[in-house]
Amino acid sequence: MTSLDDLPLRADLRGSEPYGAPQLPDGIQLNVNENSYGVPESVQKKILMEMEKSLAQLHRYPDREFGELRKLLAKFLGFGLDETQIWAANGSNEILQQLHQAFGGPGRLALSFGPTYSMYPVIAKGTLTDYKELSRENGFTLSADYVVEQIKAENPSIVILCTPNNPTGTAIDLEVIEAAYDATEGMLIVDEAYAEFSDAESAISLLENRPRLVVSRTMSKAFAFAGVRLGYMAADPAVIDAMRLVRLPYHLSSLTQAASRAAVMESETMLSNVREISIQRERVASELKALGLEVYPSKSNFLLVSGFKEPRAVFDYLLNEGLIVRKTTIDSALRITIGTELENDRLLELMPLAIASLD
Ligand SMILES: Cc1ncc(COP(=O)(O)O)c(C=O)c1O
Repeated sequence: MTSLDDLPLRADLRGSEPYGAPQLPDGIQLNVNENSYGVPESVQKKILMEMEKSLAQLHRYPDREFGELRKLLAKFLGFGLDETQIWAANGSNEILQQLHQAFGGPGRLALSFGPTYSMYPVIAKGTLTDYKELSRENGFTLSADYVVEQIKAENPSIVILCTPNNPTGTAIDLEVIEAAYDATEGMLIVDEAYAEFSDAESAISLLENRPRLVVSRTMSKAFAFAGVRLGYMAADPAVIDAMRLVRLPYHLSSLTQAASRAAVMESETMLSNVREISIQRERVASELKALGLEVYPSKSNFLLVSGFKEPRAVFDYLLNEGLIVRKTTIDSALRITIGTELENDRLLELMPLAIASLD
C-alpha cells in the first residue's frame, strides 16, 4: 500500500494530522458546536423553492460575485453596511484561508491567543504562513495592554482574535479590539463565528475608517446551516478586492447561493432557537457545577468544563453511550456543545455516571 511517505509531499506537511473531529450521525453530537435544533420546516420549504429557481441555469457558472446574497447579508448585519463591504465563501474556514492567502504567506506571521480555534494553525500551514499562538491571560481573558505588548513584540502580518472564543466561550471587549488594531500594521481578523449567542457588541461597529479590520461570521452555528457551508465577512471594499485575487473562480455554487439567500431572508426564523440555546446553556452550566465541575462563563453555544480527573475516560464513557463531546488541549477539560433540551437531559443523566465510573 502506498503511504504518504512514498509521495513527493511538501516537506512541511510530513507528519501533519488532518482536521478530523469524529462524526456520529446516529448519536448525540455535542462536539462541533452545531445548532442541534436544525432548520425550521417553514424555512426548509423556502430554501427548496429558492433552489428550484436556480435549477434551469445549472448548466451556467454561478454569479461569480454573488451580488444578491451579498446584498442580503449586508442588510442582515446592519450597521449601514452595503454589499461592497461583504464577502462570502464555503464556510468561514474558507474566508480565513482566503485572508491568509492574500495577507499571509512565506515570511509572514499570523498571531493568535490560545487556547483558541484549532484550525488557525492548519490554515496558516496550508498557506505557508508562520503561526504563533500566545497564551491568554487568567481565566482565558485578554486585556488591551497584554495584546498590544505582544503585537508590538511579534510584528505579525495577521492577528486573529476569536470572540466569543472557541473553546473557552470568552468574549473580548471592543476596547481590546480597538487597541489591537492600533498596535498592528497588519490585518486584524475578528472571528465572530459565535456572535449571535453573545450580547457583546460586534466588532462590525468598529469597521468605519479601519481598512485593515475584518469581521468574520458563519451560518454554521446559530443559523443551523453547517451543512451548506456558508461563511461571510464584513470589511473595507479594498479587502474584498483582495479576496477576488485569491478566490477560485465561481467558488460559491449556484445551489449554495440559493439556499443561503433563502436562509438570510428568513433569518429571524432561522435564529429563533438562539435564545433557547442560551437558556439551556445556563441550565447545563449550573447542573454541571452542582457535580463539582468547573464551568467557564460562556457567551456561545458551548461550555468549557474542567475538573475531570480523567477527561479522556469521561469522553470514552459518553461515547460508548452514544453521546460525543470534544476533547481539548486544556488540562482536565472537555468542551460540550449545548444541544436540544432532550439532548442536554441525556448529557446531564450520563455525566454523573461517567464520573462515578472512574472511582
Ligand atoms: C471560531 C471558529 N471559527 C470558524 C469556524 C469555522 O466554521 P465554518 O467553516 O463552518 O464557518 C469554527 C467552527 O467550528 C469556529 O469554531
